[in-house]
Amino acid sequence: MEQAEQSGRRTDRRSFLLKGAAVGAGAIGASRLLSAPRASASGGLTKGDVAILQFLAAAELLEADLWEQYNELGGIQDRERPGGTGNKAYTRALSVLDKDIPQYIHDNADDEQSHASFINAYLEANGADPINLDKFRTVPGSKATGARQIGRLTNLMELTIDTSWWTRYRSHSKNPDLGDTLPQAVPDLAVGKHPAIPRSDDDLTPHRHLQAIANTAGFHFGTIEQGGASLYASLAQRVTNPEVLRILLSIGPTEAMHFQTWQDKAGNAPPLTDPTTGLTFPNLNGGGALFKPNLIMPEPTSFLDRKFPACSIIRPSATEGAALGAAKFLTAMGLFNGQSPDFFAGVKALAEAADAAQRQ
Ligand SMILES: [Fe+2]
Ligand SMILES: [Fe+2]
Repeated sequence: MEQAEQSGRRTDRRSFLLKGAAVGAGAIGASRLLSAPRASASGGLTKGDVAILQFLAAAELLEADLWEQYNELGGIQDRERPGGTGNKAYTRALSVLDKDIPQYIHDNADDEQSHASFINAYLEANGADPINLDKFRTVPGSKATGARQIGRLTNLMELTIDTSWWTRYRSHSKNPDLGDTLPQAVPDLAVGKHPAIPRSDDDLTPHRHLQAIANTAGFHFGTIEQGGASLYASLAQRVTNPEVLRILLSIGPTEAMHFQTWQDKAGNAPPLTDPTTGLTFPNLNGGGALFKPNLIMPEPTSFLDRKFPACSIIRPSATEGAALGAAKFLTAMGLFNGQSPDFFAGVKALAEAADAAQRQ
């Protein structure tokens, strides 16, 4: 009884995120109570498949929102991605990392929107509810020249960025799935709150302050995309329908392609100290093999069990609690600073439902 009530509440919170709020009775919570949920809850999808796809749809909408903000200021605004008018000084600072960065930002933004749109359309085609976060587009965005003045889902101006992926992919023995922790590439980014876009035109000077903001973006790009690569690898292990597996195995590696590009570009971020904030980007060429910028191919490392030979892999990829882990990772990053309690409750409910999914 108590469990049923809890699952009812969970469904209520989740319905805030669903278009039309037409959630079947106990749709999500119920699957946690059944030892063997029926294999075709909607179309050919199990309830678990639906829950995983719904969580991924939400994650992709959030990714699309953050990439759209980067594109408005530092990407290419065109018919495909029309928002914003660009910020010349910020775009120039980003281009220090690679002159093609505006194109890459544009295409990454385009990819994320395509992921969100596809997953939502697929859910609908299979009789399941798509995810719509529009009511949460309330977070203030950049006031700098080039940005649209609209509410956002995500906040790119108070980030605390975990850059341990840099050393994790360069380590030949450690793996977070085996309990290992690895050092930060940019320790200053892992503490405090840092803008990755200019908050206003006041952030466009002095020059090294703006470059520090562009460098922050450079590392944030990689942080987001390596997380996406791990998320798909982790959740794919618990889907049931082969076509849903195909979706996860086809989208996930594009996140890894993004990551590969971004970690290459992050390595070009010039070492410097922001004269305004003291934020320091170290010289990664001076720190040994765990930090060396040109080691962008995933170093073979321990996988599953240390008794096996080292293997070049996505890491982490453990499936248990992966969705909630991703939600916590993004929350701890400050990406949702300014969001409403309903938003956090809704994301948590979607993550818990995805983590309750079991492969049938
Ligand atoms: Fe994506
Ligand atoms: Fe992505």
